[in-house]
Amino acid sequence: MRVVIIGGSGHVGTYLVPRLVAAGYEVVNVSRQQRDPYQAHGAWRQVQQVVIDRTAAEQAGNFGAQIRALQPDIVIDMICFTPESARHLVEALRGQVHHFLHCGTIWIHGPSVEVPTTEMQPRRPFGDYGIHKAAIESYLLAEARRNGFPATLLHPGHIVGPGWAPLNPAGHFNPEVFVRLARGEPLALPNLGMETVHHVHADDVAQIFMQALANRSTALSESFHVVSPAALTLRGYAEAMAEWFGVAANLQFLPWEEWRATVTASEAQATWDHIAHSPNCSIAKAQRLLDYRPRYTSLQGVQEAVRWLIDNGQIKIG
Ligand SMILES: NC(=O)c1ccc[n+]([C@@H]2O[C@H](COP(=O)([O-])OP(=O)(O)OC[C@H]3O[C@@H](n4cnc5c(N)ncnc54)[C@H](OP(=O)(O)O)[C@@H]3O)[C@@H](O)[C@H]2O)c1
Repeated sequence: MRVVIIGGSGHVGTYLVPRLVAAGYEVVNVSRQQRDPYQAHGAWRQVQQVVIDRTAAEQAGNFGAQIRALQPDIVIDMICFTPESARHLVEALRGQVHHFLHCGTIWIHGPSVEVPTTEMQPRRPFGDYGIHKAAIESYLLAEARRNGFPATLLHPGHIVGPGWAPLNPAGHFNPEVFVRLARGEPLALPNLGMETVHHVHADDVAQIFMQALANRSTALSESFHVVSPAALTLRGYAEAMAEWFGVAANLQFLPWEEWRATVTASEAQATWDHIAHSPNCSIAKAQRLLDYRPRYTSLQGVQEAVRWLIDNGQIKIG
């Protein structure tokens, strides 16, 4: 089986590509070749690298044809962000592929109703990213269920792993938040700190892609959340990280308008995006149908990432 992965050298691909090679797939990675995977692995020597800039190729109208020319049995699309982009690829691959896996996001959901949120909940996305991803899901599921296009959608939470800064307990990405917690310094959280975030380790995302391939008949025409077994409240996350560092958390709680003035505009925007979603998603469907068994809790995934930040001098906790 020949797998073409579009955008396979990022967070997920770092783990997924070696798994695909180990499972005996012939792997082709399509990217601009501007970055390397986060971790070296001998499996990459067996991967065919094809340089295509998707944005440019879509503008030229030949991206789908270029992917079809690679003669994939399976296509894994890691970097599709608009329904037009999805449609362009589906039109080119219709009748040509055995399985098509799309990487979505849990931001197909807007504010939660019953939690943990299941895949059955009506979609109420907000923000361009979530709205576009929900529209892609709707389009691909319709193509799968009406026209037999062999699509599966996998929706990760906040992806963490060694090599990049995890979403922190204040709901943004500045790793200095971990330094403050490690030193027992005061850390302000918005509101009561009871809004939630839902991480997933990149290797667990890779795991579910493998499980979807292995369980093709149950994965077809379905979408699945890909998160850790449980979401975290910001407060609980902060307290657990301080405890991990061996100190007590020194937390303060401020109403949103006051809190936002304590951080940069981009940090406030990131936090707002995360707490307005406050994701808390169920993995029951993925467990039941795909035997998804995440190896990492949210805290374990974050701690591995923070350990990497410390070991690589990205943060200095003293
Ligand atoms: N990161 C998260 O926390 C998160 C959470 C939920 C869902 N997701 C979803 O995860 C997917 C992204 O996966 P990821 O985080 O593993 O990706 P990533 O780390 O952002 O890596 C992107 C990959 O795509 C390639 N790429 C980027 N722009 C390209 C272009 N114009 N043409 C060709 N290749 C291009 C990159 O390589 P080059 O730069 O070398 O081209 C790289 O291989 C998205 O669908 C996103 O919605 C992410």
